[in-house]
Amino acid sequence: MAITLKTAHDIEKMRVACRLASEVLDFITPHVKAGVSTGELDRLCLEYMEQEQHTVSACLNYQPPGYPPYPAATCISVNDVICHGIPGDKVIKNGDILNIDITVIKDGYFGDTSRMFIVGEGSILAKRLVNVTYECMWLGIEQVRPGAHLGDIGHVIQRHAEAQGFSVVREYCGHGIGQVFHEDPQVVHYGRPGTGLEIQPGMIFTIEPMINAGKRDIRTMPDQWTVKTRDRSLSAQWEHTILVTGTGHEVLTVSAGTPARPSSVLEAVAS
Ligand code: MF3
Ligand code: CO
Ligand code: CO
Repeated sequence: MAITLKTAHDIEKMRVACRLASEVLDFITPHVKAGVSTGELDRLCLEYMEQEQHTVSACLNYQPPGYPPYPAATCISVNDVICHGIPGDKVIKNGDILNIDITVIKDGYFGDTSRMFIVGEGSILAKRLVNVTYECMWLGIEQVRPGAHLGDIGHVIQRHAEAQGFSVVREYCGHGIGQVFHEDPQVVHYGRPGTGLEIQPGMIFTIEPMINAGKRDIRTMPDQWTVKTRDRSLSAQWEHTILVTGTGHEVLTVSAGTPARPSSVLEAVAS
């Protein structure tokens, strides 16, 4: 599959789809509280997408080769769920960490973003995992400019996660995105500097590291979607969709509620 370089028209459409995806996360944030079920959060997100935004969930009925159709509008991955958690009867409780991953389609263009939520008072480990994973995503984003290589992104993410005693999930990665949900290139979250594809202006791809507090090994549940840590350790993930510009990058999945870029990354970039 070829990598598509986006036109000015594509980029304009992607800015809109990506902002809308981020606005679903803004909308759902006040509802993420102890006592709510993941199914209720999913229902609220779908209602907001369809009734308020006039967007379509890219997840609902999504069926890559070898998978059953995905049965919900969002992915909600709690505690030891790494990704693709299917919303349902599970009730969120104090101390849980969860990822909500939103992909919307607007005018045929896909916007993909996820954030972590810590419910009530999280453990010291949970807070450290969520913050380090956020820093990992941002360290990766800061590598994005023409002439850099995809391995530069993976390298900084892996180095930061492993320096903290955490591990990087290998089976799932970032991806090109546009008028197709998952397209080339694959953006892995580990690697060596200077290796892999050279980054070019007009590329749009996601960076979405999944970082485990324990070992990197995964197990997939019988529903064929839900992916958990094999050792039942906590896992965290953040995701942005990124445009490669002539001189660097533009984060497309931004809205009023987007969390700030972390200060530790500012320092790492300055040094
Ligand atoms: N949004 C996920 C990603 O970041 C993909 C979810 S596919 C689904 O690539 F079918 F599980 F929703
Ligand atoms: Co994605
Ligand atoms: Co996503």
